[in-house]
Amino acid sequence: MKNSTWNFIVLSTLIGIFIAYSCYLYFGKGTSSSSAPHMSNLAIEGEQIWQNNNCTACHQLYGLGGYLGPDLTNVISNPQKGEIYARSFLNSGVKSMPKFDFTEQEKDALIAFFAHVDATGYYPNQYAEFSKDGWVKIKYK
Ligand code: HEC
Repeated sequence: MKNSTWNFIVLSTLIGIFIAYSCYLYFGKGTSSSSAPHMSNLAIEGEQIWQNNNCTACHQLYGLGGYLGPDLTNVISNPQKGEIYARSFLNSGVKSMPKFDFTEQEKDALIAFFAHVDATGYYPNQYAEFSKDGWVKIKYK
């Protein structure tokens, strides 16, 4: 076989494998894009409000953000807090948190965003297991 024909066969095979593997990763089960919880339009709107009002200047999600206010990762599922509790801060503000004058729809959106974040995991992850060989098993929701 001629050298150029051989090069062509090898190159097309590699390109074929590359395309097939890319499709497998992109569409395959178990990739982060297919297993991540679906974000509703309301939650997306809430995320936008969260960003536009710079809530993260004072609050954290998964421990990241400003430290004047508390972490809000699990504010919805926390048995001592929850949706009504979180909403009351949005209704009235407190001395150390401004009142934002959100509409009911905007408050719903923020609560939907918090519920979405809450469904992704725990922070701090007190359910993590530490094994003797130095590895940590993180618990996911
Ligand atoms: C200037 C800082 C500041 C900003 C900006 C701010 N907050 Fe707060 N927030 C606080 C503080 C401080 C508290 C705790 C107040 C308390 O418990 O007395 C709080 C409490 C909360 C709580 C109750 C949480 C809990 O676990 O007790 C929620 C929910 C909340 N804020 C949502 C928001 C949202 C949504 C925004 C953006 C629209 C926002 N905050 C912007 C300072 C802020």
